[in-house]
Amino acid sequence: MSVHLNIDDPALRKELASKVDAARRLLREIADDFSPAALASSLGAEDMVLTHLIVSEKLDIEIFSLDTGRLPLETYELIAKMKHHYGLNLRLYYPRHEIIEAWTREHGINAFYESVELRKGCCFARKVEPLQRALAGRKAWITGMRAQQSATRDALPLRAFDADHGDGGLEKFNPLAAWSEREVWAYLKLNQVPYNALHDKFYPSIGCAPCTRPVTPGEDVRAGRWWWENPESKECGLHVKSA
Ligand code: ADX
Ligand code: SF4
Repeated sequence: MSVHLNIDDPALRKELASKVDAARRLLREIADDFSPAALASSLGAEDMVLTHLIVSEKLDIEIFSLDTGRLPLETYELIAKMKHHYGLNLRLYYPRHEIIEAWTREHGINAFYESVELRKGCCFARKVEPLQRALAGRKAWITGMRAQQSATRDALPLRAFDADHGDGGLEKFNPLAAWSEREVWAYLKLNQVPYNALHDKFYPSIGCAPCTRPVTPGEDVRAGRWWWENPESKECGLHVKSA
């Protein structure tokens, strides 16, 4: 956790209560009106907030994760912990082995460091293609993105039609779009929600192990992702619109 937090602060509690209430109502609406719907979880702090809300409200929303095969050990440990804590066997989607075998044979195991193009190629093979399969047949998907996370997300809507996934498009919801990092952490602490151990080692945003490093105080929360690239290129393709 990279924020200073006083979870007894009455102003924080009040502001959090109204945001939780709104997120809970939105999730219920998604479960009721957009079934089958799913939460895409990277096991990051925001996704753990949404997981806790979905599980505690017993909402009919499936939770899945894209296992790229290059995730940090701590992320796998959290997946295992979720089974004990919530009785939840997270649904995992994997890259197609023939695509990964061809890519690594042609470019090498860590070629994503060599250019933005190669990095996006690896993200496509390990995340974007599996996401297309994960969203097939769904009416809505949910992410843990927040507007404050980066320059690429500052206009993030609560809800938008996503024409790039599903069968001819589906609704995409970002219930935590207006949440602050402080609110996310207050919720996790107040509800004793399990979270990725890397967050306590200066990793506010966690992706694949070779592409994530810790941040220093004052750095942007996503500064540790693909840190060798310019901030404008730092999206993996999961959330980029084709039009
Ligand atoms: S991203 O660039 O990797 O997409 P980030 O880690 O900030 O960015 O994740 C934003 C949201 O994308 C997460 O809250 C989650 O909904 C979804 N997401 C990212 N990575 C994964 C993953 N491996 N599996 C499932 N969902 C993911
Ligand atoms: Fe590949 Fe790195 Fe993208 Fe993971 S984050 S899919 S290792 S380029």
